[in-house]
Amino acid sequence: MTKDTKENARENSVMEKIISLCKRRGFVFQGSEIYGGLGGTFDWGHYGLALKNNIKKAWWKKFVDGRKDMYGVDAAILMRQEVWQASGHVKGFADPMIECEKCKEKFRADQIEDKKKCSECGGKLGEVRQFNMMFQTKVGASDNSSATSYLRPETAQGMFVNFKNTVDAFHPKLPFGMAQIGKAFRNEITPRDFLFRQREFEQMEIEYFIRSEDWEKYFEYWKGEMMDWMEEIGLDMSKVHELEVPKEDRAHYSSRTVDFEFDYPFGKKELFGLAYRTDFDLKNHKLDYIDEPADAEAMAGKGKSTKIVPHVVEPTFGVDRAVLALILSVYAEDKKDGETRPFLKFKPSIAPVICAVSPLLKNKPELVEYANTKVYAPLKAEFGRVAWDDNGNIGKRYRRQDEIGTPFCVVVDFDTLTDNAVTVRDRDTGEQERIKVADLGKYIKEKIL
Ligand code: GAP
Repeated sequence: MTKDTKENARENSVMEKIISLCKRRGFVFQGSEIYGGLGGTFDWGHYGLALKNNIKKAWWKKFVDGRKDMYGVDAAILMRQEVWQASGHVKGFADPMIECEKCKEKFRADQIEDKKKCSECGGKLGEVRQFNMMFQTKVGASDNSSATSYLRPETAQGMFVNFKNTVDAFHPKLPFGMAQIGKAFRNEITPRDFLFRQREFEQMEIEYFIRSEDWEKYFEYWKGEMMDWMEEIGLDMSKVHELEVPKEDRAHYSSRTVDFEFDYPFGKKELFGLAYRTDFDLKNHKLDYIDEPADAEAMAGKGKSTKIVPHVVEPTFGVDRAVLALILSVYAEDKKDGETRPFLKFKPSIAPVICAVSPLLKNKPELVEYANTKVYAPLKAEFGRVAWDDNGNIGKRYRRQDEIGTPFCVVVDFDTLTDNAVTVRDRDTGEQERIKVADLGKYIKEKIL
């Protein structure tokens, strides 16, 4: 094997190990798996969902609850076709597609090197044509064209169409933002690389409305905010890189885009993005805003109200790519006695399970009773993200919890019955501490912060 092939094999095997861990430990499953799978769709298991929810909560806490200038929205996924006509998606949201004339396999024309010969069967490839990626559907029983609707390909439009409602309800002064977390759908020609390119995925987006002259200042500001959040959730920042997206590769609405790329095992590719959408969307939806003078100016009788179309800086985050990049950031292996043991070193604040509680032996009712009523039940009531684990011996339980990424394992042993203390084992150091049961809640709370 050449050095490059060796490197590729190693990198592919990291993805294989992660996909297998995600299935084995109940994070992510192939969509419609028992019927052979549906390409580009995934189902989330208990731990993957917990991780995804923690990521979304961390995002909402920083960008919505933690600010005075942000308004949340949860818009319908189905919207009238006029929304997507005005936004330019009906006309322009397409990828170049090429089809093999022999085996009918379809490819993204911009992702294959040989545009003449099919890589699957060697057949002749046809002409490149534009393929619109929106999922079309009909609303109601009518099948005429006015009933056509689309599953949204970005959450952004759900915010633009509620701009007026938000302004009328809350009277925000510029600059202010709208934020939404929700599903988006794209009929990707070639979904691939596990959670990276799917047909159904989730986005966390902000539309930040500003005066046009301020766009550069806020573009820089949001770049910083995005980086801070990535660091906060525990992404490996040495794998995150900024890319100034050239004009020809930018979306139809963007005058400037910076992508945050991540070093995935399958290459350096987009993780999140930041775009300057100008007044493109509000203008096309025929929406405007009365910009009033600042309070001090108004009181001094200076300045006057003007009707403007605010400009927009848009920080956008894919939830699923955040999960994938985070798992890749925290995945580690410990090699001991010829065995490889995988770990997920999640920060306690983001880990799907904050601690697991075990009785040392599951056939000793006094240990089980103590562990259940005096340790597990109060921790579960306080933190929610607490697992009960009495399967196999202690070594096996530690290994299982390491794979899930549980930072702490709490064991109730015979001494606990007399000293009311438990052994707390740290996932990353393997060190064990004796902690009083009465202090456990406080101990864990400090670790989550
Ligand atoms: N509103 C702007 C917008 O939708 P985008 O770059 O097309 O911009 C935003 O998508 C984010 O959504 C991306 O940075 C990525 O994290 C995520 N994303 C896009 N397409 C995806 C797909 N097919 N599967 C998973 N995530 C995707």
